[in-house]
Amino acid sequence: MLDLTHVFNAFPIIETERLRLCEIVPADADALFKVFSDPKVMVGHGTPVHQSVADTRRLIDWYARAFPEKRALRWAVTRHGDDTALGTCGYHDITAYHHRAEIGYELASAAWRQGIMSEAVRAVVRFGLEEMGLHRIEANVDPANPASANLLRKVGFTEEATLRERFFDNGRFVNDWFFAILATEVDKVR
Ligand SMILES: CC(C)(COP(=O)(O)OP(=O)(O)OC[C@H]1O[C@@H](n2cnc3c(N)ncnc32)[C@H](O)[C@@H]1OP(=O)(O)O)[C@@H](O)C(=O)NCCC(=O)NCCS
Repeated sequence: MLDLTHVFNAFPIIETERLRLCEIVPADADALFKVFSDPKVMVGHGTPVHQSVADTRRLIDWYARAFPEKRALRWAVTRHGDDTALGTCGYHDITAYHHRAEIGYELASAAWRQGIMSEAVRAVVRFGLEEMGLHRIEANVDPANPASANLLRKVGFTEEATLRERFFDNGRFVNDWFFAILATEVDKVR
């Protein structure tokens, strides 16, 4: 069994060249509502578009409860010197017995194509493989979302399989592109 105690003792902050990844707090609700209520962001995300800021507050509460239970570790993505959450990135479905977790992310559309999420995902993957001791990180992508698939390939993930109509996403059944990276492939993270 993977011992994650050291990771979940206190919320870990990750700094990269341009970004500060920190705990999602209730004060992030308005900024994150803009992200989760934007249909452009939510196409292929696999969860419902937020209808009101109450939906976003519920999600923030869920992450806050899941952290001490070692079930999820989700960072707010911010730029150095600006606390505004541009999006989130992190792990859910953390399965300590199998040394495995799933990664997820989403970014405000105004910040797309500036290399922000690949910078965040690279740091989160390194943290997962090197600090958490994960052996395998998985990602599930809707084939209607090539941006996410391209990002994963770019940071070193391998596409492994397509599972048919595995998700019901905002009214339609969609295939699942299964991507993963292994601890033995950490040198591929670039
Ligand atoms: C996927 C997403 C997080 C990408 O964030 P981003 O910060 O714009 O991505 P980056 O600028 O770091 O781009 C990294 C790579 O991803 C790919 N990519 C990003 N946006 C793309 C797009 N619109 N179309 C095709 N490829 C794209 C490219 O390969 C890019 O590398 P390049 O710029 O060298 O060509 C963002 O589009 C998003 O939030 N989408 C909606 C939510 C989502 O899809 N979440 C994941 C669910 S599995």
